Amino acid sequence: MKSDETLVLGLETSCDETAVALLDGAGGARTSRVSSQEEAHRRFGGVVPEIAARAHLENLPLLLDVALADAGASLADVTAVAATAGPGLVGALLVGLSEGKGLALGLSVPFVPVNHIEGHALSPFLDGAGGPAFPVPETFAALVVSGGHTHVFRFEAERIERLARTRDDAAGEAFDKVAKMAGLGYPGGPAVDRLARRGRAARPFPVPHFKDGSPDFSFSGLKTAARERLLELGRVPAPGFPGGPSLREEDAPQGLCDLMADVEEAIVAQLLHRLSRIHEAELFEVLTVSGGVAANTLVRERIPAWGRSRGVDVRLAPRGLTGDNAMMIAFAGLRRLLTGRLGEGLGAVARSRWPLETLR
Ligand code: KG4
Ligand code: ZN
Repeated sequence: MKSDETLVLGLETSCDETAVALLDGAGGARTSRVSSQEEAHRRFGGVVPEIAARAHLENLPLLLDVALADAGASLADVTAVAATAGPGLVGALLVGLSEGKGLALGLSVPFVPVNHIEGHALSPFLDGAGGPAFPVPETFAALVVSGGHTHVFRFEAERIERLARTRDDAAGEAFDKVAKMAGLGYPGGPAVDRLARRGRAARPFPVPHFKDGSPDFSFSGLKTAARERLLELGRVPAPGFPGGPSLREEDAPQGLCDLMADVEEAIVAQLLHRLSRIHEAELFEVLTVSGGVAANTLVRERIPAWGRSRGVDVRLAPRGLTGDNAMMIAFAGLRRLLTGRLGEGLGAVARSRWPLETLR
């Protein structure tokens, strides 16, 4: 198979985005489509698994047709199929995984089950504008920060090692929970980002430490501390359900904008503190930063600055690829195809948990 003839179809349905992408053999996007279900889940203040699965069933075939039309391709041009097999919501995963297996079987092309976190971790090597992907070094560190994950991994040719994980909430969850208490709706990370731009961080929250000296993350204390500060501001923290916004962003008082700036600072300060600790022990040269929280303004400013001060080449996921997408799934699949690591292939099952460090 000549690499310029390769066309990998990527499918992503692990949570609340239905996504389809077509990637060429150089890792360039022929198309990448994402259909968000945010509207369907918003009034529940979080993702409802049954609604997610049903929406994927409805959206996936339509999105596939649109993606093929975008690329001026037909199914017969697809040379391999990659679909997310986990971690995620099992009912949601099953939709993309079954579709992917069925297509691969029908087309007699290889099927690659992809780990969603591996997809995120590799996404910073993609060119967000459709150009070929950047070369992936044999060894690099990856910070994956999303609504469900806050992890640091070390990627090597033959293995993936976990260097840190969150012991409670994920960083994105911390953004979302604080936003929800402040009445900013769900998912609240982008709203906190916008309010923080209007605020001034002046009262830092402490960076938590573990007694055992572990570089693991912890964000649950921040939620409680932020709650206290909301009460100080005379705001009654909104209950978690229903999650519709009760405060218009333009009406947010200065004190609340300042608090959101403090919250954002606290999250980024902890990320940097842990990265420094890990870098002192591990000395990596390249760090990828990916996942929904990699869209955050302060994250995109401070982590590259940290890298420059330490001689670490920080690669941020392109803006359009921080959230869930199928390009990263197709790309992880392409890399596995090129190295003959297809995992369980058609035998793969949907996994709610699938630790990345168990992959080869
Ligand atoms: O990767 P993603 O789309 O889905 C998961 O796999 O979780 O990440 C979504 C998370 C949410 O928690 C959302 O609030 C957060 O990413 N997020 C942000 C920003 N944009 C998205 N957090 C802070 N600042 C942002 N600009
Ligand atoms: Zn994700």
